[in-house]
Amino acid sequence: MDGNGRWASAHSKPRHAGHRAGVRAARAVTRACAEAGVEVLTLFAFSSENWHRPPDEVNSLMRLFIEVLQREVDELHANGFQLRFIGAREQLPEILRKRVADAEAKTAGNSRMTLVLAVSYGGRWDIVQAARRIAAKVRSGDIDPQDIDEALLGRHLSLAGLPPPDLLIRTGGEQRVSNFLLWDLAYTEIYFTDLLWPDFGPAELARAMDFFRQRQRRFGRTGGQLEALAD
Ligand code: IPE
Ligand code: MG
Repeated sequence: MDGNGRWASAHSKPRHAGHRAGVRAARAVTRACAEAGVEVLTLFAFSSENWHRPPDEVNSLMRLFIEVLQREVDELHANGFQLRFIGAREQLPEILRKRVADAEAKTAGNSRMTLVLAVSYGGRWDIVQAARRIAAKVRSGDIDPQDIDEALLGRHLSLAGLPPPDLLIRTGGEQRVSNFLLWDLAYTEIYFTDLLWPDFGPAELARAMDFFRQRQRRFGRTGGQLEALAD
């Protein structure tokens, strides 16, 4: 969700106003996704690298996450959303860690849509934490190095049990992955838009979905093979 700061500058507002506008956009897009039948939505809210921002901005973002969770969880729960958090939780302020755990516990039984919030998340961090847990299992003798394959690694990543993303939307005009779900994005279609995140809404989401529908997803095969499979 990139572009909050530039949106704020463009409106002569402080950066935190941009982040607040970003929350409004996230709310609208989450609901539009649910209406469109999306099963899993992952929002990249705060990266491993965002900790290097000025402390004032980091603190105001943490306060914003705490406030938004407090305000939104009951309604998300009532609407059947399951919440899941991915990222280095031990780095989060204790109160946020508790809110996150409570929100996950409360919504664990819901199945309308899974909303994954990536906070203090990095794709490299994710692969490292998976490697660490696998190494511990090898050391304890639970698994043999020969057992390590793509499926096993996938089961130790943060999105374990969820399908890899079909579509990644990158706002704010950047054309890079910026340490998002590195493993999971192997065959994800990527939609780039110059819109700043606070300006991204249901209309542009519909355009991104149209783009997705036009893609032929070959997963390494040839177009001819896919046509034969479809017959
Ligand atoms: C994304 O907007 C929000 C977070 C990373 C928390 P930015 O804050 O990166 O906005 P720009 O890139 O400065 O416009
Ligand atoms: Mg940015």
